[in-house]
Amino acid sequence: MKIAIGSDHAGVEQKSEIIAFLNETGIETIDCGCFSADSVDYPDIAEAVAAQVLEKNIPGIIICGTGIGISIAANKIPGIRAALCSDSFSAEMARRHNDANVLAIGARVLEMPVIREIVRAFFSADFEGGRHQRRVDKINEIEKKYCERCC
Ligand code: RB5
Repeated sequence: MKIAIGSDHAGVEQKSEIIAFLNETGIETIDCGCFSADSVDYPDIAEAVAAQVLEKNIPGIIICGTGIGISIAANKIPGIRAALCSDSFSAEMARRHNDANVLAIGARVLEMPVIREIVRAFFSADFEGGRHQRRVDKINEIEKKYCERCC
């Protein structure tokens, strides 16, 4: 499995730690930046990760200070379902019920051991389908409706 990952300056250290943790467990990563503590804009990183997720049909991880800005930006992109998670239960449910394809994390909110648990929970769970598929389909219908309205 490959995972696209990116953070703004607020999460660059946590990104490195997550990459190391994933690589140790045999998961390859595509690092979409940023690569230093110099200030960058989180929408650019959200877009870079989302592009990989959509192009390669792989999951993604996005990180900013709170996880809020970067998840808002990612969720503007059709086909992206980014879930901002602060606990492992939500991370598991984001996969099982919401078929989230991107995990968003707040680097200034959570300590590394919790982040590791969240990442583990998200990538260990699978979408359950069934009644949850109907709801995800409705999300896709909303997306389509408003995309058509904009263009
Ligand atoms: C950057 O200072 C900060 O605003 C950003 O990382 C994020 O928390 C925004 O939602």
